[in-house]
Amino acid sequence: MTHWRRTHTCGELRSDAVGTTVTLNGWIENHRHHGALLFVDLRDRYGITQVVFQEDHDAELFERARRLGQEDVIAIRGQVGLREKANPDRATGEIEVLVRGAEVLNESAPPPFEVLDTVEANEELRMRYRYLDLRRRPMQEALVKRGRFTTAVRNYLAEQRFVDVETPILTKSTPEGARDYLVPSRVNPGKFYALPQSPQIFKQLMMVAGLDRYYQIARCFRDEDLRADRQPEFTQIDMEMSFVEEEDVYAVVEGMMARAFREAFDVEVVTPFPRMDYAEAVGRYGNDKPDIRFGLELKDVSDIARESAFAVFRGAVEAGGIVKGICVEGGAEGFSRKDIEKDLGAVVAAQGAKGLAWAKVGPEGLAGSIAKFFEGEAGSALCEAMGAKSGDLLLFVADRKSVVHKALADLRLNLGDRLGLRPKGTFQFAWVTSFPLFEWNEDKQRWDSSHHPFTAPHDWNADLEGDPGSVRSRAYDLVMNGWELGSGSIRIHRPDVQQRVFRFLGIGEEEQEAKFGFLLDAFRFGAPPHGGIALGLDRLITLAVGAASIRDVIAFPKTTSATDLMCEAPSPVADEQLAELSIRSTAAREPN
Ligand code: AMO
Ligand code: AMP
Repeated sequence: MTHWRRTHTCGELRSDAVGTTVTLNGWIENHRHHGALLFVDLRDRYGITQVVFQEDHDAELFERARRLGQEDVIAIRGQVGLREKANPDRATGEIEVLVRGAEVLNESAPPPFEVLDTVEANEELRMRYRYLDLRRRPMQEALVKRGRFTTAVRNYLAEQRFVDVETPILTKSTPEGARDYLVPSRVNPGKFYALPQSPQIFKQLMMVAGLDRYYQIARCFRDEDLRADRQPEFTQIDMEMSFVEEEDVYAVVEGMMARAFREAFDVEVVTPFPRMDYAEAVGRYGNDKPDIRFGLELKDVSDIARESAFAVFRGAVEAGGIVKGICVEGGAEGFSRKDIEKDLGAVVAAQGAKGLAWAKVGPEGLAGSIAKFFEGEAGSALCEAMGAKSGDLLLFVADRKSVVHKALADLRLNLGDRLGLRPKGTFQFAWVTSFPLFEWNEDKQRWDSSHHPFTAPHDWNADLEGDPGSVRSRAYDLVMNGWELGSGSIRIHRPDVQQRVFRFLGIGEEEQEAKFGFLLDAFRFGAPPHGGIALGLDRLITLAVGAASIRDVIAFPKTTSATDLMCEAPSPVADEQLAELSIRSTAAREPN
């Protein structure tokens, strides 16, 4: 290799190097034959350089070069020349290297798919040959940006006196609402470790220890049903601080985001981020993770609906539901009956709405599916409530509150996409605050923590039993462009309050002792007031780089059925290995 050590990368050479002799190492992206010339695109992480083999210069070398194949790793030495016709799409497009000597460093088998910026291959094939997929420029760029982001985060947090601490992977369950991944203990037969769903309890113990400011870029494991934006193992930027209130946490995160977005993505984000309480977010946008880059806010017209001639509206309100709508400014023109009833109707139907009522506002009054119920005065009142004027389109859903909000939240995002109000490359953060402490679990007929059971109520003396749904918490979410990026809270640091919350959640004394005894003990030895947050790194990078899927920003991700197609994990193990762990599987054996 010494003889063939590269003098430059494949992304480096410009016209000022013309006339010099250089050595390049890289992969063959493609080769094109033109009579006595062979053009090869040589690729490495830094770019692509065109190198040219000339038959009339060295016939023997030319003959060898003809046998080169895609993805062979080669070294070439030659002279930099100006290209006859520059390629403006490529940083090295002004020059080419006229080859004087070459060496094959390693041959490649024919690749199962072409390693190009845009792939034709399906994702399964890409995941099976992940190292080839990762050879593609967009994948490498995403990983490089991810690395730059975490470096900026580390630098910023270190300057802010945060201590980077590792917490155990083989541990005990931390309740974050998912199933645990379990690991059997060989030396303690019949006993299991849980992989952490988050470092939550350990980071709180770090505060009890007096570490004051902790962070970790931490791997978390959750055995849940996977969606496009979720992975069974994923990474959090996890933080905790002592003697703080909400605003202290917000300030640190805002500074961190501003710095890391600038250094990793060259993007300026505006701080401070707007704050909005949960009830306001749901009321105006239909959910707790609003995209606030655009309006199209939800307006409540239940009062008008109650008095209206339209039985669907009246009926919904009488049954304890609500009627809300969205006014699309100037939308009377752009949306046909078919657009509205078929396309937009399908969006709300997917969230359980029974229909989408609509009207176009004209100079003479309303037209559309509900026009006949809102003639004259009634129509004017509806328009006034919606803030609508001639030329606007009105869309309504009448139902139970939760259905109306879910349906209109999705409709709003869909309209935002259609109207170009959600452009790539723009990032709008917001804090959503004051979540409910508990939420009713319809399936299990019980109250659950909305965030996790360590979250402090707004008031230490809050009456939990009276009207549990109305108790506010000190939890907050960081949202961006319609996604939840992170969650956190000011924590409970008093053992009596923590026990009251456990008790309310139906966790009895015995279970408290078994699961959280060490935490309750710790709280009895001088736990400082504390709070923190965890940001989903994978999700954040996906959005920031505009990747199609969370899997495109993770080097070795899992499929939606939690498998690694390259390593073929999970996989069966030998009976002896199970016996050692005192385990027998009840699963049917796969045929060999
Ligand atoms: P939470 O469970 O809300 O909070 O998680 C914080 C953030 O982690 C990301 N996230 C995920 N990303 C990818 N795949 C998943 N399966 C996945 N699950 C969660 C989300 C989410 O906002 N211990 C608390 C934080 C705290 O209170 O400090 C916690 O884990 O972006
Ligand atoms: P109908 O009277 O059932 O023909 O409905 C008249 C209009 O009201 C149609 O545009 C329906 O899509 C709409 N609609 C029906 N049910 C609802 C509902 N629950 N909320 C909003 N619009 C509805």
